[in-house]
Amino acid sequence: PSRLPPDRLGRPLRDLRISVTDRCNFRCVYCMPKEVFGRDYAFLPKSQILTFDEITRVARVAVAHGVEKIRLTGGEPLLRRGIEVLVAALAELRTPEGRPVDLALTTNASTLAVKARALKDAGLTRVSVSLDSLDPERFAAMNDVDFPVAKVLRGIDAAREAGLGPVKVNMVVKRGTNDADVLPMARHFKGTGVIVRFIEFMDVGSTNGWRMDEVLPSAEIVARIDAELPLEPAAPSYRGETAARWRYRDGGGEIGVISSVTAAFCGTCTRARLSTDGKLFTCLFAARGQDLRAVLRDPSQTDADLATALGAIWAARDDQYSERRATVKERPAGRIEMSYIGG
Ligand code: GTP
Ligand code: 5AD
Ligand code: SF4
Ligand code: SF4
Repeated sequence: PSRLPPDRLGRPLRDLRISVTDRCNFRCVYCMPKEVFGRDYAFLPKSQILTFDEITRVARVAVAHGVEKIRLTGGEPLLRRGIEVLVAALAELRTPEGRPVDLALTTNASTLAVKARALKDAGLTRVSVSLDSLDPERFAAMNDVDFPVAKVLRGIDAAREAGLGPVKVNMVVKRGTNDADVLPMARHFKGTGVIVRFIEFMDVGSTNGWRMDEVLPSAEIVARIDAELPLEPAAPSYRGETAARWRYRDGGGEIGVISSVTAAFCGTCTRARLSTDGKLFTCLFAARGQDLRAVLRDPSQTDADLATALGAIWAARDDQYSERRATVKERPAGRIEMSYIGG
């Protein structure tokens, strides 16, 4: 086993994000708007969804060739039955140097209070929780299924108690919708060890009605927080980190801002995404992925063949959508949805 060659822009493959289900019990307005993901929306049938063994096989081959970080996403990954069984299998993987991988999960925390302990016991390293408002009414309006914010907060507490940390909270900020929640969110988690990351509303997929005037630039987010709770910049904790870190000057911990719109980070993007049905996407904004399921389900294809397929896809990669957004006149149609590919 050896590292795969870097992509066409010199970026190595280090990060594998795996979507384990395209379903979610929320209908966040920027991700799975109800008008599109309604009662008769056709989610993937079971036969098309990768099994735990298939996912683990892809992950094992990827880890043998340089992947050091795996993140489980969805949809909502905790809706996948037996998810802790998959976590346990992935926790066994070792890099060629013999190190375990950083194994994280992104969740809406709706069932985390019940599952945190089992996930930790299975070997999960940490969780990131999506939470867009602490105001019960605004949160209910954003998840669009009347989900109570108190229950998400209980999930976050359970994760901390279980030692799934540091827990990160991801807040997508939409100007005019929840930008009034930026300061309350910062205040609430300051001093708790939970790291809030404010995310610029992105034009992923083609159904969320994205408009530039609904993006609150990260610089403005930092300025608003800094005016009340003074901040200073902190160095990235690893190369290619999506978030820019800011530390409270009084020692109250840190926040992050993810500026995919105003300060793109494609130059250091080492992420590949595996969809629920086994397609490998080399960019969050790609129109299509490469089918790995066909390789997985062909009995004549070995792990070495799988590695070759992976290497060929990565070697051809030249994606840098966020860097180019400003110069792209027409946004390409038919991009994949975030709920299918994961955040
Ligand atoms: P850490 O490992 O904790 O640093 O997490 P992460 O930032 O790698 O992953 P997370 O799922 O917490 O990402 C938070 C958000 O950043 C996602 O929900 C996306 O909105 C955004 N994001 C993550 N990766 C990418 C990427 O490759 N491109 C773009 N444009 N946005 C990304
Ligand atoms: N812009 C920014 N972030 C988004 N997410 C989903 N859709 C968008 C979007 N349009 C984030 C969620 C969650 C993760 C799964 O992806 O907030 O943290
Ligand atoms: Fe579900 Fe997360 Fe999308 Fe909200 S952002 S609809 S919780 S997958
Ligand atoms: Fe990576 Fe594509 Fe996001 Fe750029 S836009 S950081 S290439 S996933």
